[in-house]
Amino acid sequence: MTFHFRALRRTALALLLITAALPASAREFRVAVGDGAGGTQEALGLAFTAALAEKTAGAHSAKLFLNGQLGDEQDTVTAAATGTLDFSILAINNITPFSPSVGTLTLPYVILSLEEAETITQGEIGQQMVDRTVEDAGVRIIGWAYSGFRVLTNSKHPVTTVADLQDLVIRVPKNEIMIETYKSWGINPTPMAWSETFAALQQKVVDGQDNPYMTVNAMKFDEVQKYVTNIRYIFSIEPLIVSEQLFQSLSPEEQAAVSEAGKVATAASAEFLRAKEAEIKTDLQARGMEISDPADGEAEFIERATTQVWPKFYDTIGGKEVLNGVLAALGRPAVE
Ligand code: MLT
Repeated sequence: MTFHFRALRRTALALLLITAALPASAREFRVAVGDGAGGTQEALGLAFTAALAEKTAGAHSAKLFLNGQLGDEQDTVTAAATGTLDFSILAINNITPFSPSVGTLTLPYVILSLEEAETITQGEIGQQMVDRTVEDAGVRIIGWAYSGFRVLTNSKHPVTTVADLQDLVIRVPKNEIMIETYKSWGINPTPMAWSETFAALQQKVVDGQDNPYMTVNAMKFDEVQKYVTNIRYIFSIEPLIVSEQLFQSLSPEEQAAVSEAGKVATAASAEFLRAKEAEIKTDLQARGMEISDPADGEAEFIERATTQVWPKFYDTIGGKEVLNGVLAALGRPAVE
């Protein structure tokens, strides 16, 4: 009994100290989420909202707006930078146009596993990217969702070789690296906002697109796409960003609470991917999707993309040494 009372008193005192350091005015932050329910973006967002409420002892909360309700992913970066949006969860390729150095993580075949994604984003290089994004884009990355490899889907036929791609119209994000990657595979892709993609697939304006299994499921793409190819050109990393204006208006205690909640959410996102990806892939097959592996261990896709695309973007990402820094952190040889 005494023990319980002491523990309770300790907890009450701790909460009092936290809330004393936080402002009296409770706020409900708005979090834009590009994808629908059931994916890694939502998993990251839910973990963040729970951790934020806990770390501010209920002083602040956050509400998720799924499915691009608060605007297309690229538009949410501008909205957060100008202070009209609080937070956004979006694919890193949709931040690259505003902060080119994060393009290193979108270069094809650089990040080759969840573990590599965690090593880079949670280490020194990740911190440098956070700093650069604040400077370039006016938004601060405070958490990372990990969504798995972007696989290719289409509605026409199985694809296992580069030759199979040639009659397909493929949607890509408005991201130069991804556009050039498809060009290296011999086709001119169609750059399109994420929020328009489902309708474009449904109306057959485009035949296919690429995104991770988690996203294909969250967006119900199995309703409009049949064939999947397990390419692994980009391991999808999806940051949680906060408006830098908002972040700077917070007290040091609130900033710490937001940052810590972001870290909790990052860990939860990795756990979600590890627990759910295989199950979701099986569900998509059960719902009629046909999955193929690229021929020859993807050799032709890899060869064309790495030799033709990497050199085109050395300057944009801040120099070849930026890519070599990432490769060194992953224990891989530098490019000459
Ligand atoms: C895109 O393809 O634009 C993004 O990867 C979509 C997403 O955020 O899931």
